[in-house]
Amino acid sequence: MASKSKILIIGGTGYIGKYIVEASAKSGHPTFVLVRESTLSSASRAKVVENFKNLGVNFVVGDLCDHKSLVEAIKRVDVVICTIGLFQLADQDKIVAAIKEAGNVKRFFPSEFGHDVDCAHVVEPAKTLFATKAKIRRAVEAEGIPYTYVTSNFFSGYSLPTLSQIGASAPPTDTVIILGDGNPKAIYNKEEDIATYTIRAVEDPRTLNKSLHIRPPGNIYSFNDLVSLWEKKIGKTLERTYVSEEQILQNIQEAAAPLNVILSIVHSVFVKGDHTNYEIDPSSGVEASELYPDVKYSSVDEFLNQLV
Ligand SMILES: NC(=O)c1ccc[n+]([C@@H]2O[C@H](COP(=O)([O-])OP(=O)(O)OC[C@H]3O[C@@H](n4cnc5c(N)ncnc54)[C@H](OP(=O)(O)O)[C@@H]3O)[C@@H](O)[C@H]2O)c1
Repeated sequence: MASKSKILIIGGTGYIGKYIVEASAKSGHPTFVLVRESTLSSASRAKVVENFKNLGVNFVVGDLCDHKSLVEAIKRVDVVICTIGLFQLADQDKIVAAIKEAGNVKRFFPSEFGHDVDCAHVVEPAKTLFATKAKIRRAVEAEGIPYTYVTSNFFSGYSLPTLSQIGASAPPTDTVIILGDGNPKAIYNKEEDIATYTIRAVEDPRTLNKSLHIRPPGNIYSFNDLVSLWEKKIGKTLERTYVSEEQILQNIQEAAAPLNVILSIVHSVFVKGDHTNYEIDPSSGVEASELYPDVKYSSVDEFLNQLV
């Protein structure tokens, strides 16, 4: 039997990265994480680092901005998955250059894990961030680097615990704010499932040079339907307040970073319907739950049960 691909995760100690590292190690891929020296001794990362050690993950000391360490790390593996954060996206041009120089990478997953940035109708300031992701896509394609773009839509753990009530720390129990008219459909995926689907795609020829859209049928809800489902679970009707698009756009203008970024992303999802307002083009995309029907993903319904 052929041995499993060696995977390097850049940004593996970050929010989504740690799920991907765990899924990679648990599925038997020799797993490498590029970490800065300071991260290994950081108190805030101690738990994640300890977990990686227990999983047999290999630490490669380096830095996204240090070309030599990047090329050396990449030469040790077959696949590179990048999960660096929103504000470092532009630095991925350094990974593209290092992959090109190393010359051995069979698949690159740039830091996407959200919208399909080629299909979004997003306003500033998220517009510039999405344009950066799109620019990295174009650079990867121009260099002929084999790729998969993971379009994971919303992370459930970010959105569902408060039902997208910005600034709240618990789900609503009396009143709920709904952005727009509540009808466009959004998609919520649990972080562990996003990681599972990503790792399944690593060696799959069906995902080569494609976007992997994670759209499981049990995770697609309009804001109105999500609130109705929650109301059923808590046995209570909430007072719904609808916020017009005009008001949301004004709120974005008046908010400081990073709230303005969050608001412009939720505007794109809840008002413009950017998670679901396009069909997956089979020449450039595949859907994860159709490709991997054996993966028992966690549904929105199940996620909300934990919050009751
Ligand atoms: N769909 C959604 O709901 C959603 C929500 C949030 C994010 N996202 C997307 O998910 C992706 C990852 O975001 P995230 O929030 O998970 O990231 P994050 O938590 O900000 O993690 C960033 C990672 O990059 C590492 N890093 C930073 N600078 C580095 C450098 N110079 N060299 C090497 N490593 C460096 C950090 O290491 P340290 O441990 O040293 O800090 C950390 O591991 C982004 O594309 C973002 O747009 C999607």
